[in-house]
Amino acid sequence: MPRIYGAEVAGLGKCLPSKCLTNKDLEKIIDTTDEWIQSRTGIKQRYVMGEGETLSDLCVVAAKQALDQANLHVDDIDMIICGTFTSDHKLPSLAALVQDKLGAKNTGAFDINAACTGFIYTLVTGAQFVRSGASKNVLVIGADCCSSQIDWEDRSTCVLFGDGASALVLRQHDDPNVGVQSSYFGSDGGGKESLWIEAGGSLMPVDEEVLKTKKHRVTMAGKDVFKFAINALSTSAKEVLSQEGLDSSDIKLLVPHQANSRIINAAAKRLDFSDEQIYLNIDKYGNTVAASVGLALRDSYDEGKFKSGDKLLIIGFGAGLSWGGTVINWSID
Ligand code: UT7
Repeated sequence: MPRIYGAEVAGLGKCLPSKCLTNKDLEKIIDTTDEWIQSRTGIKQRYVMGEGETLSDLCVVAAKQALDQANLHVDDIDMIICGTFTSDHKLPSLAALVQDKLGAKNTGAFDINAACTGFIYTLVTGAQFVRSGASKNVLVIGADCCSSQIDWEDRSTCVLFGDGASALVLRQHDDPNVGVQSSYFGSDGGGKESLWIEAGGSLMPVDEEVLKTKKHRVTMAGKDVFKFAINALSTSAKEVLSQEGLDSSDIKLLVPHQANSRIINAAAKRLDFSDEQIYLNIDKYGNTVAASVGLALRDSYDEGKFKSGDKLLIIGFGAGLSWGGTVINWSID
């Protein structure tokens, strides 16, 4: 039997763009109200990319924080994986840009596109590199700049999203029970049209007609995604807990993808989690797509919501449709 290592979470980092856009600011641009946005989603504000800011720069700031906390040098990283669908360029990957800006010399680098489930896919993929012994230190990044992809005249989508980057360092540990544990993932590509950008891929390159019809912008069937999301979150949680032989009382903190507080609360109720066990920071950032779970991890850690020896349940869903989850046995203070 090959040896399995632990994939310990050794450091966390985050970076938001400089421009804060409150619901009140949006009231001046589109036909919406602070009251509608807060009551339907829990969002009070979000950050969006300002002049001269780039997603790769945000990633580098977040990555350096995570490396500092892990007490690692940039040359210790032997794999960089970015969850994103909005790299600075169509080619190459965001991970390659981050590798270059960090000056990391001993690493591979690649992206994963799983939309809002991106952080969880990236985290679990990184953990496989560490658990198998293929890598010693993996830099996991979740980052998106959705403000560049939405239709700012579509009030049903533009109020929901924000930009940001989060980073996490996975370090090899002798004990396989430390760090990232079981995972579960699901996919239903049949639901692609409920949350998608139709144009800009190989099937429909952007041309004048696309620009006119705005098919290069995000469109979403909100109600369909809402219903799917509650099921997706509860299924992901149940599957991972059952693989680990745990129930909700064993979990110190549930850290879900932050898309809508109503979705999270509805799923948590089905799963028998108390309010104290659920982490929410959507009020500050909106839905930051692949960055959201990492931002929630960093903020909840900073707020002292968990400590060494605690178990965290991470769950998410998004375009694809995609969903999944994992458990982290937290080991650092
Ligand atoms: O990571 C995955 C990302 N996506 C999601 O998680 C989204 C899941 N879906 C949702 O979160 C919810 O469906 C929304 C928050 C998007 C919408 O909430 P809802 O309770 O499903 O509202 P609705 O779409 O049924 O719209 C209700 C009304 C409509 O007006 P009428 O037709 O009843 O007159 C909308 O036109 O609210 C209107 N509306 C708005 N009003 C003010 C839609 N967007 C807005 C807005 N401000 N921004």
